[in-house]
Amino acid sequence: MDVQRIPAREGNYNLKDYEKTRQNFSWDEVKKNFSWNETGKVNMAYEAVDRHAADPNKKDRVALYYSSPDREEEVTFGQLSKQSNKFANVLKKYDVKKGDRVFLFMQRSPEFYNAFFGILKLGAIAGPLFEAFMEQAVRDRLQDSEASVLITTPDLLYRVPQEDLPDLKKIILVGDHNESSDKYIDYKKEMAEASAELAIEWVDLEDGMLIHYTSGSTGKPKGVYHVHNAMIQHYATAKWVLDLKDNDVYWCTADPGWVTGTSYGIFAPWLLGVSNVVRGGRFTPDDWYGTLAKYKVTVWYTAPTALRKLVSAGEEAVKRHDLSSLRHLMSVGEPLNPEVVSWGLKAFDLRIHDTWWMTETGAQLIVNFPSQEIRPGSMGKPIPGIEATIVDNEGNELPPNQMGNLAIKEGWPAMMRTIWNRPEKFESYFINGWYVSGDSAYKDEDGYFWFQGRLDDVINTSGERVGPFEVESKLIEHDAVAEAGVIGKPDPERGEIIKAFITLNDGYEKSDELLEDIRQFVKTGLAGHAAPREMEIRDSIPKTRSGKIMRRLLKSWELGLPTGDTSTLEE
Ligand code: WT7
Repeated sequence: MDVQRIPAREGNYNLKDYEKTRQNFSWDEVKKNFSWNETGKVNMAYEAVDRHAADPNKKDRVALYYSSPDREEEVTFGQLSKQSNKFANVLKKYDVKKGDRVFLFMQRSPEFYNAFFGILKLGAIAGPLFEAFMEQAVRDRLQDSEASVLITTPDLLYRVPQEDLPDLKKIILVGDHNESSDKYIDYKKEMAEASAELAIEWVDLEDGMLIHYTSGSTGKPKGVYHVHNAMIQHYATAKWVLDLKDNDVYWCTADPGWVTGTSYGIFAPWLLGVSNVVRGGRFTPDDWYGTLAKYKVTVWYTAPTALRKLVSAGEEAVKRHDLSSLRHLMSVGEPLNPEVVSWGLKAFDLRIHDTWWMTETGAQLIVNFPSQEIRPGSMGKPIPGIEATIVDNEGNELPPNQMGNLAIKEGWPAMMRTIWNRPEKFESYFINGWYVSGDSAYKDEDGYFWFQGRLDDVINTSGERVGPFEVESKLIEHDAVAEAGVIGKPDPERGEIIKAFITLNDGYEKSDELLEDIRQFVKTGLAGHAAPREMEIRDSIPKTRSGKIMRRLLKSWELGLPTGDTSTLEE
């Protein structure tokens, strides 16, 4: 088969005639699938959970197949509805109201989902934090959001710097603990006492639902603010792109600490009432294949970094498991290598569908549909309702095959509505009515988009977005480090790895032990995935005259590329 072009396949829904669907498309038609189209009253938790619990045909369907190395559970829509009602009542008892920020900092578990929907049912705003975050990362996010309640597990409590978090009034602990102060609430005890009856808080489509923190190239992480209206696009893409049908068993491998883990690990499948697999614990090829086989997963959404590891594990590993249920595969987060797509054809006899979007966009925008030819290496085409293009730095559209900023016409349903506490940051994403993504790409004559790289200094390591500023800030907190510049260095398995250039303070000698100590300092202070894999000690770090670290120059040196314009370099 010509792997430059992989032919279209049967897909659901009405996208076989892509151009025609686009022309006749209106988001208002999608809205007709929701009860609020008549009532005007809305809540994501109702649409994703309660309405299935109220449906005699779906109430006892398994919503969540949860497993981790030491725990296994099945939760039906009926149970999830009741448990999240209870959790909402617990929050209510402690005075949580519409618009309050309630954060979750814990591993994936059934309790996580009860709490998550409990928060939404009160009209409060959920903030899921990745469990691997260390103290600094937790502090930045809880301070910025002014969260009043945190749900966590006792083993993670030491990473919550409570003395720095004056707004944090209550901490709900999931699991056995010995805390006695009345700041702590015991999950199990309160849930046992709480009523399962709740009058859900009906909200406006534009009311806040979720904050996901993400990194830019400068400054602290940004609180990307999403509203209930996003469900329109989650619902539509669950059909068009995830290709979900009623009896599917779906698995999205992403953690809800990242946007993929909420938009497509929670909302999209459950808006359609589809059974959803959640697997906690660490990645191994056999474990993942085992999960696919055990639950007879039909639709799978994962990331290139995991797929590359599966490729390394070889086809023998695939053959050890019965994966015959699998019918649709998707990928997101980084460029999907054409070799991985070819391997997918061989190993699974399936196409891997790349999808492109961002924390800020809230949902998929440019994708490969089942009923569309795949050109390996391309992210595909915009979904109906989305206008995408390539612009120059002034916001002018560029012709096909010319590289520039990947931009989207503003105003799609799942778009972020602001950056929490930083409206000026939000405004800075837009030029001439275009949302400018920060990615460079080009569009071919047939409308396929091809990713080229990031235009800013944001690092993508194993699909995780890391801001160099955050890592640099942590590095210079170490006693030995005077200055730091951090870049992403291309890596065949991880996409990019983090490389740090540092200068040492007087009195410190270069040694392997010192470098390892500095690495551990970032790892235990910020997050494992943010720790530099490579470090280099230099006599100085290149900076502009205004003191900005010239990461671009560090990168050119590292890669042996021409250094370009260095006129702003400090003497
Ligand atoms: C950045 C966004 C919401 C998706 C998970 C990541 C990169 C995303 C692709 C793709 C090449 C991709 C971009 C983007 N990215 N999808 N299909 N091909 N690159 O969300 O953490 O907000 O990161 O991930 O650079 O800007 P995120």
